[in-house]
Amino acid sequence: MGRVENKVALVTGGALGIGRAICELFAREGAAVAVTDILEAEGQAVVDAITAAGGKAAFWRMDVAQEASVRQTVAAIAAHFGRIDILVNNAGISGADKPPHEISEEEWDAVFAVDVKGAFFCTKHVVPLMLAQGGGSIVNISSIYGAIGSADVPPYHAAKGAVRLMTKTDAMYYARHGIRVNSVHPGTIMTELVRGMAQNAPEGYEAYMEGRNRIHPIGHPGEPIDVAYGVLYLASDEARFVTGSELYIDGGYTAQ
Ligand SMILES: NC(=O)c1ccc[n+]([C@@H]2O[C@H](COP(=O)([O-])OP(=O)(O)OC[C@H]3O[C@@H](n4cnc5c(N)ncnc54)[C@H](O)[C@@H]3O)[C@@H](O)[C@H]2O)c1
Repeated sequence: MGRVENKVALVTGGALGIGRAICELFAREGAAVAVTDILEAEGQAVVDAITAAGGKAAFWRMDVAQEASVRQTVAAIAAHFGRIDILVNNAGISGADKPPHEISEEEWDAVFAVDVKGAFFCTKHVVPLMLAQGGGSIVNISSIYGAIGSADVPPYHAAKGAVRLMTKTDAMYYARHGIRVNSVHPGTIMTELVRGMAQNAPEGYEAYMEGRNRIHPIGHPGEPIDVAYGVLYLASDEARFVTGSELYIDGGYTAQ
């Protein structure tokens, strides 16, 4: 018996990185997975890998920053799988990396459109299904940067902080309706997002990565599967008494 057997999970940004690891782990643990992303070929590749391994999944192109896209896709997924038990708001971008006084309105809005409004739109359109079903679990992927400051990516810090508090408010609204809402706060996890940040770092790739190793007390960054296991716990019935909480998967970063 899998840990999310017979549940239907919608994962945003499921084509790459942490989202892909979540989709594959959920499928191994018995869920039917709606893989969604703006990257169609990569998203379909995740579905193909899951199906080849004997799991259940289908892909939908969904841009979380566009409410119409979210509304239509959520309806299509509900029609296809019959219900949605788990929503993982994982899609995210890190955006402009320069001091606040150099950031344009467009750069600021771009990050908020995906990281904050995206999570809001998906929650907004999935919750009515969960209310009708009598419950569900929403996991919002925030970041250590949603809880502590550092001198990089200012819009990302603000956006992930918003996701952290949106989680708690949503948890309060829906606690009596069987819908749990929790946030996950990864430290540095080796994905395309981080490789991109390292490649663009003024100090160069190697120096950036050395810095990442140093700031995590465990001595190295994490892997996508490290985050996926935490998300699996919060999504599953094992966490039935857990709502409004924050799970840090950060190699000790925020314990310092
Ligand atoms: N990698 C890290 O170190 C790290 C640390 C803390 C938090 N996070 C968070 O984890 C989540 C996943 O990050 P990742 O490192 O796997 O990133 P990634 O860039 O590897 O993957 C992000 C996915 O989101 C998708 N996406 C981007 N914009 C989208 C949109 N508008 N609609 C739908 N999908 C969209 C991308 O196509 C991609 O598949 C993000 O929310 C990120 O902020 C990552």
